[in-house]
Amino acid sequence: MSAREPLLRVRELSVTFPSREGDVSAVDRLSLEVFPDEVLGIVGESGSGKSVTSLSILRVLPKRSRIDGGTIVFRDGDAEIEMAQSSADGPEVRSVRGRRISMIFQEPMSAFSPLHTIGNQIGEAVALHNLPPDLKRSARKAESRLQTLDLLRSVGMPNPEQLIDSYPHELSGGMRQRALIAMGLACHPDILIADEPTTALDVTLQSQIIALLSRLRREQGMSIIFVTHDLGVIAEIADRVLVMYLGREMETAPVDDLFHNPKHPYTKALMRSMPTISGPLVALVPIDGMTLPRAHCRTMRCPRADKCPGRPGTSGRLLSGWLTATRRDIR
Ligand SMILES: Nc1ncnc2c1ncn2[C@@H]1O[C@H](COP(=O)(O)OP(=O)(O)OP(=O)(O)O)[C@@H](O)[C@H]1O
Ligand SMILES: [Mg+2]
Repeated sequence: MSAREPLLRVRELSVTFPSREGDVSAVDRLSLEVFPDEVLGIVGESGSGKSVTSLSILRVLPKRSRIDGGTIVFRDGDAEIEMAQSSADGPEVRSVRGRRISMIFQEPMSAFSPLHTIGNQIGEAVALHNLPPDLKRSARKAESRLQTLDLLRSVGMPNPEQLIDSYPHELSGGMRQRALIAMGLACHPDILIADEPTTALDVTLQSQIIALLSRLRREQGMSIIFVTHDLGVIAEIADRVLVMYLGREMETAPVDDLFHNPKHPYTKALMRSMPTISGPLVALVPIDGMTLPRAHCRTMRCPRADKCPGRPGTSGRLLSGWLTATRRDIR
């Protein structure tokens, strides 16, 4: 078995949200691979299916959704664990979720319980994954606290001895994000899925978190799936990039190829809409079209989507805002 065999292989994954106006196809025959020690960036605008893809890999999708087809295979040495067709609560999925693959969720505030200190919450994950179940209660508590302090130190938290007893709301946004990363690392995952881990942060903190994840990935030899709508962030952290649009793969390429030689028209449009850091402040190029995919129509950026004769009743939401006009634009 070679090291270049993927750790994770997603093939033709489809996820649907049934609704009264018809099925909404959130992920449509999507394939991706994650190799050992690499950062796979997933980029796409809001609603393109990045989070649904991430949640599918851990089988923690909202109840209203269903996996319509495809496979998700995690390689565990010589064994392969198929997760898309297994029960979400079955032994196959449980052997991977939160053990071999963990996730930092998009909203740090909702990922932590407000009722418990971050030390207790991270400590619980540490005890679950790293300590023998028959360890005495007091020893368990002491050991999980020590390991939690180590984790908080490894994510660059200053004075962890004090912050370990803080409640989530007592931490700044940057510290909360670090605590969340510490919790994601508690199980020493092979793959960490980071869903927009920097979106809520200002530019300086964003850079710090990206540097932190890059360092952790180097030191711990783990792979990262880094989800973002921001091509600037992708350029900083990813080795390969999957571009998504309306739940589909538009293009997957090594990061340099993607920036220097984008193949797909949608990727080119994304590039044009990206603000340049050094260039003059010019209006960004908007991409008009619909972001709400309907099963009947797959016309890319169809400007007449709301008048489509084949559409079953409702109009798609028009995306007329500035794409990626985030805080990165004016620097
Ligand atoms: N809870 C839900 N109920 C109904 N439909 C949903 C739900 N979550 C997602 N969807 C559908 O799936 C599509 C993809 O959503 P997803 O959250 O994966 O987008 P995203 O790329 O992560 O966007 P963002 O950048 O805003 O986080 C949405 O456009 C929507 O149609
Ligand atoms: Mg999302």
